[in-house]
Amino acid sequence: DKAGHKHFMAKEIAEQPTVIAEALGHYLSAEGEISLPEPGLDFTSVDRLTMVACGTAYYACLTAKYWFEQIARLPVDVDVASEFRYREPPVPARTTALFVSQSGETADTLAALRYCNGRADRIVSVVNVPESSIARESDLVLPIHAGVEVGVASTKAFTCQLSVLFILALKAACDRGEMDAATLADHVSALRSLPSVLSTALEANQEMQKAALKLAEARDVLFLGRGLMYPLAHEGALKLKEISYIHAEAYASGELKHGPIALVDKTVPVVVMAPRDALFDKTVSNMQEVMARKGRVILVSDKQGLAEAGDGAFATIELPTVPDAVTPILYAIPAQLLAYHTAVAKGTDVDQPRNLAKSVTVE
Ligand code: F6R
Repeated sequence: DKAGHKHFMAKEIAEQPTVIAEALGHYLSAEGEISLPEPGLDFTSVDRLTMVACGTAYYACLTAKYWFEQIARLPVDVDVASEFRYREPPVPARTTALFVSQSGETADTLAALRYCNGRADRIVSVVNVPESSIARESDLVLPIHAGVEVGVASTKAFTCQLSVLFILALKAACDRGEMDAATLADHVSALRSLPSVLSTALEANQEMQKAALKLAEARDVLFLGRGLMYPLAHEGALKLKEISYIHAEAYASGELKHGPIALVDKTVPVVVMAPRDALFDKTVSNMQEVMARKGRVILVSDKQGLAEAGDGAFATIELPTVPDAVTPILYAIPAQLLAYHTAVAKGTDVDQPRNLAKSVTVE
């Protein structure tokens, strides 16, 4: 049932404020304390986190690496499952292995999990389907409570994965003595503000539709971001490829001059994800290099960011201002909606894109 939406993907994008509130309710008490399902996880015995996944879930892991490293000072490696399983990497002592999968059935992710069984101290999974194979073979299961996701392109599962992983990073920071109570309370209130700011972001549809018309004409699209926006740039590019069949690539903004800028001309739209954070000026200077080569910039930022750097952009998309740490969860909305509106403009099959399956149970 599409609940009045044209596509399951649109319905699932629109559900995000509700399902994120649901997910938060399972991991945060009324007093703002973090509680994990049994048997829990004490990060004082963890020296390294190895995260493995495929596709969108992999980009959730890449985002979480920034959180675990910056907030909890915990070293993290992240791998795509198909590489991890055959590389057979050494698993150092006191490593916890964490697998992220919406379906819990992805063949490569499951094989990577089995490789870690007996090598890592413990197996943790972040899944949407608690009865899945990956969940069954884990020591600790962290459900994301997103509800059934029908659209092949993952949307609400991604933001719920991020929400749960962010809470886990906060838990790690507290256990490791890297966070005081006041800072934790600030992060918890940032999380709790998400359902309402996401609802606001979902209303900014007009600018997204305008930008999507530009994207729909393009053969190639670049997505740029720094820091927490870098993995999100990848997610935006993946969404666009999957459902609109337009070639899209993501780069860390700082990599632009190491190659991809050679692609830029007036036919190449460049989506820049840049909240007004500590790295904003750096990203803006990369954006100006794109503009100087007549690239059509679609700048996604907040009020202040757009006031400072919006001039000269082909389109701007304004999002609410939120604390830096939670920006990936908010900026996922335009990443998804730009792809959605582009696919609708092109008339592709949004919910069942060609050649793709919802659950990849063979390698
Ligand atoms: C992207 C997408 C895929 C999945 C990937 C992993 O929109 O849907 O990239 O994210 O196949 O699937 P799960 O999370 O079920 O392991």
